[in-house]
Amino acid sequence: KPKVAIFASGSGSNFQVIADAARAGNLDADIVAVVTDKPQAYVVERATALDVSVIAYRPNDFDSKVAYETAILQELQKLEVEWLVLAGYMRLIGDTLLAEFPNKIVNIHPSLLPSFPGKDAIGQALAHNVKVTGVTVHYVDAGMDTGKILSQQAVEVVDGDREKTEQRIHAVEHELYTKTLQQLFSR
Ligand code: GAR
Repeated sequence: KPKVAIFASGSGSNFQVIADAARAGNLDADIVAVVTDKPQAYVVERATALDVSVIAYRPNDFDSKVAYETAILQELQKLEVEWLVLAGYMRLIGDTLLAEFPNKIVNIHPSLLPSFPGKDAIGQALAHNVKVTGVTVHYVDAGMDTGKILSQQAVEVVDGDREKTEQRIHAVEHELYTKTLQQLFSR
């Protein structure tokens, strides 16, 4: 089973679903750490409740992105982490981690890429009045949401209703991410 670290900056609902699936034996992975740039984020409580190690550094406490990611990398290496799974981690992965985990970093994004990359993808979709948006799981490269696409699923926009659309997207994310990770890890 691959050892996996989940990177998150927020609520961590995707972390929760992935960690629960791994524990239930529905995902062949060991979720050994949560990495966050926001030590206050709710994902930290979720990780603690599941006895998952938390690696929490504030980027502002470091002189450079290289220094920040090197601190994370040292902790990941202690835990022998093999895969990085981004789930609401709201920053770009830099050269330090990219070089260390080639083709072993994946991300989930709440749109049908290449539409609406970057922040607030759901808000972007609503602002454009699209009728269909969705979810993308993709490999991470140096760009913003530009890596090779692994899976996608469409989600209808409900009458421009942000809350309902968000709920649908989250539900689809939880299912699609677990399924896509299982395919990746069982290769
Ligand atoms: C998810 O919707 C994820 O797709 C999005 O953040 C949310 C995190 O939710 N990620 C991005 O927008 C990345 N650019 P969660 O903390 O409940 O898993």
